[in-house]
Amino acid sequence: MIDRLTVDRILDAANIVDVVSDFVTLKRAGANLKGLCPFHDDRTPSFMVSPSKNICKCFACGKGGTPVHFIMEHEQLTYPEALRYLAKKYHIEIKEREQTDEEKAEQSERESMFVVNEWANEWFQKQMNDTVDGRAVGLAYFRQRGFRDDIIKKFQLGFCPDKFDAQWQAAKAEGYNEEFILKTGLCIRNEQTGKTYDRFRNRVIFPIHTISGKVVGFGGRVLDSRTKGVQVKYQNSPESVIYSKKRELYGLYLAKQAIVKNELCYLVEGYTDVMAMHQQGVENVVASSGTALTEDQIRAIHRFTENIVVIYDGDAAGIKASQRGIDMLLAEGMNVKLLLLPDGDDPDSFARKHTATEYQEYLRDHQVDFIQFKTNLLLEEAQNDPIKLSRLVNNIVQSLSVIPDDITRTFYIKETAQTLEMDERLITSAVAKVRKQQREERQKQRERERLQAQAQAQGPSSDAPHAIVNEGADAPEEEEHEAIVVTPEDIEHSSATTPSLIGRAGGDSSSTFLKTEALLVQMIVRHGEKVMCDVDDEETGEKHPLTVVDFIQYSLDSDNIELRSPLHRQILVEALEHEHEEGFRCDRYFENHPDINVANLANELAHDPETLSKIHSKGTAVKPEEERLVELLPHLMTDYKLAIVEESLRNIFLEMRDPAVMADKERSVALMKQYQDMKAVQKELGRKCGDRVIN
Ligand code: CTP
Ligand code: MN
Repeated sequence: MIDRLTVDRILDAANIVDVVSDFVTLKRAGANLKGLCPFHDDRTPSFMVSPSKNICKCFACGKGGTPVHFIMEHEQLTYPEALRYLAKKYHIEIKEREQTDEEKAEQSERESMFVVNEWANEWFQKQMNDTVDGRAVGLAYFRQRGFRDDIIKKFQLGFCPDKFDAQWQAAKAEGYNEEFILKTGLCIRNEQTGKTYDRFRNRVIFPIHTISGKVVGFGGRVLDSRTKGVQVKYQNSPESVIYSKKRELYGLYLAKQAIVKNELCYLVEGYTDVMAMHQQGVENVVASSGTALTEDQIRAIHRFTENIVVIYDGDAAGIKASQRGIDMLLAEGMNVKLLLLPDGDDPDSFARKHTATEYQEYLRDHQVDFIQFKTNLLLEEAQNDPIKLSRLVNNIVQSLSVIPDDITRTFYIKETAQTLEMDERLITSAVAKVRKQQREERQKQRERERLQAQAQAQGPSSDAPHAIVNEGADAPEEEEHEAIVVTPEDIEHSSATTPSLIGRAGGDSSSTFLKTEALLVQMIVRHGEKVMCDVDDEETGEKHPLTVVDFIQYSLDSDNIELRSPLHRQILVEALEHEHEEGFRCDRYFENHPDINVANLANELAHDPETLSKIHSKGTAVKPEEERLVELLPHLMTDYKLAIVEESLRNIFLEMRDPAVMADKERSVALMKQYQDMKAVQKELGRKCGDRVIN
């Protein structure tokens, strides 16, 4: 924990020009500076830095913010991580909150282990690059496999010599504490003989980094000639307080920026797969290191993107085992695509046979969604066999049922129906059934937990709750079972020709939308000419007052939107026209407007008791509305923009359900993409809803 005082010092010290200049070449442009945006593929300099406001912003992609925001986005760090980064840059010593003795001990243990690992990482590289054996054996091994020297360097590959305890001796000679050399697992002590030896001897070394680049562990591979023996191909660092195989993703440290830039992450299995893809120019790739994907790993990826492509080497057993991984990704709300490599190639061996361009084209052209993937895999053997076919359908239904977002799920249900030429309603109801089961299961689980907590709270002396706890514990735990909801008979009776049920979306949504718009217009009618706050002038640096109408106009402009209702538009235009006239008041002007439609609406809005109470009920001590303009208007504006987004989401959804569009695969895919983009905007706006900052 960084204490408040230090945080303030860091924020004060961080200079936006300074911070951005470390990554972007900036040129003067009037009072500001300009450069190529580091967050998207920018050709004309769209990235503006304002020294006076100490902020930056890209006018094309919208990214930017304070120095801390910039570092968070650029280095993909959390807020505290970004603060530490800046503290280091400005040589500000970080005062940590008082830690308990236990925390201190653990902290220094972790730190000591990192220090040892850091040293070992250097040592392994030196052994490989600067010794005869290292070059003849280790470096030669990587070169033989076709890895370029720049890639070997980028991944900090190394070598551990074929000696009993060379590393152990070296580490001790350099004064590293034995306890930590053993705890990191670099060296192993034989308790019987009391001798200590190197874990990684005669192996090539792949260091494993955390997201922020610290070395948490190593993977050591035997040299080719020995693979066939009893030796394990890869030795990894043991689990420790700093390393858990389940948590880390190999390559994430080197991939994070490319993942954000490409809005996509490739997932492969092995260390060498990641390297091979980098060598082919694909840097947004991470490896699960041969284990089943875990939730920690999924979350780490999700922090950078929602889109993932899982690459399989066509080994059937592996694909079967990965089903759960796919469902976990879907359940996290990720957009999952899968890609099968031909002839049992893995990304590494495939790279040997193709040029970088061919490789990238293959990746681009062969990704399919999970429905297509499962269908392709299973349809051949299921052909016309209703039992096998129902198994396939249930397998897909299972995956569909975990997708959290309604519209995405509906979209995939439709696609399943099309692909399998089945009645959409059958799949919809099957999915609904499974979701209901899942809900009930979750409810039971919660109930069990509640009873357990209750029992614990009451203590061991009371016996009644005990019986309940035991019963709960004995109840069959979520066994991995595939729900059978579509029977073979269903399949036989199903036909694709039945028209789909079109939901009643839409309905009175447009009147809801206009109501949201009216809330903004209401503010114009009541307070249009009033000053909401003062803002800095870009050019002169002077402050000038911003009225309610100015704010509304400016916010609409900045997103290129217009009010929908002609009457609303008229009110906005006239308010802008007159607001600066001496003594002008919007309420008087509009309530007495010569156009009876305007006057009626203005009267209604100005004295509408319902909205008055709604706005006021948010705060407890009710300040008059006009003293809270600076707080209310940004909220109303964000609400309005959200309403626009929601409406267009609805429209896209309706269009997707149009039979003509459904038949047009390309159009459907385009709509899906649009839908996802809108979803992202919606999320962003949702986040903003809490903010009070104007812009
Ligand atoms: N792995 C491991 N321990 C093993 C075998 C594999 O930790 N005994 C992990 C490694 O991270 C490895 C990944 O699983 O990279 C995939 O295993 P595999 O496909 O067998 O290895 P490759 O990455 O293909 O390695 P190579 O190309 O060097 O044979
Ligand atoms: Mn391989």
